[in-house]
Amino acid sequence: MQALARRWQRTGTRIAFVPTMGGLHEGHLSLVRRARRAAGRGGRVVVSVFVNPAQFGPGEDFAKYPRDLRRDAALCRAAGVDVLFTPTAVQMYPNDPGATFSTWISEETLSQAMEGRSRPGHFRGVTTVVAKLFNIVAPDVAVFGAKDWQQAAIVRRMVRDLNFPLKIIVAPTRREPDGLAMSSRNQYLTGDLRRQAVVLIQTLGQARQRVRASPKPVDADVLKRDLRRFVERQPDARVDYVEFFHPETLVPAARVARGAHMALAVFIGKTRLIDNGRL
Ligand code: PAJ
Repeated sequence: MQALARRWQRTGTRIAFVPTMGGLHEGHLSLVRRARRAAGRGGRVVVSVFVNPAQFGPGEDFAKYPRDLRRDAALCRAAGVDVLFTPTAVQMYPNDPGATFSTWISEETLSQAMEGRSRPGHFRGVTTVVAKLFNIVAPDVAVFGAKDWQQAAIVRRMVRDLNFPLKIIVAPTRREPDGLAMSSRNQYLTGDLRRQAVVLIQTLGQARQRVRASPKPVDADVLKRDLRRFVERQPDARVDYVEFFHPETLVPAARVARGAHMALAVFIGKTRLIDNGRL
């Protein structure tokens, strides 16, 4: 992959890259279309599928994460992807006797809250694998989804701080007809759990209404408490976090006004879902 990318680079061929963990859905494919547009005429679109062990914590769903490379490959082919890059765990994290993988990249500020607090080590795994993928694929542009808002902010920060010579594009969250954000993990939602999962988008809607109906900024703690109650009216829903923050800096807001960003993580049964939006 690296040799091919360097050849493209030498001939001035633009490379647009979409990193994924597979289990591809319409959200991923919308990033591919965005990448195609960014690559332009004569450009190349690369998609990676790699279920990155380094970003899963113990007790998380690494083992059962949806893996169907044949299906992913067919979807990529139909979407006009030029190269599907599918490294193995041993290729990405060499495990040589006496010389196991030992170099990591950690973003140290934006990673502290929300997903970083709930999933220690998660973002270290993400930034490390994304940096490796950028070094391998040598993209001019990489496309990420707004669905993982904090991840996109952290990747942007890493690119700036470490001088990666590429542009990050963040594309909008794609949703099911009932508003549930598309996710590979939605496959875990069986029976009534799928219905209960709409509570995430409904909670964003509730928060937006509250903030827009109020003549002055709303106290974040009061709003969090009320939204937790709203979520937990669903029998199998349990809130992990609700946060309000500045959309770019991710600095938490003590008082919430229109334009603030909100993110939430909710367990629906055993499945942990996230969503976010502008209020
Ligand atoms: P994964 O969850 O497979 O997501 C790959 C990309 O698709 C991410 O940029 C994510 O934000 C985007 N995405 C997921 N669901 C989306 C939706 N409903 N609408 C729009 N975009 C969506 O995120 C990861 O993989 C990994 O952490 C990765 C960056 C590949 C590093 O391992």
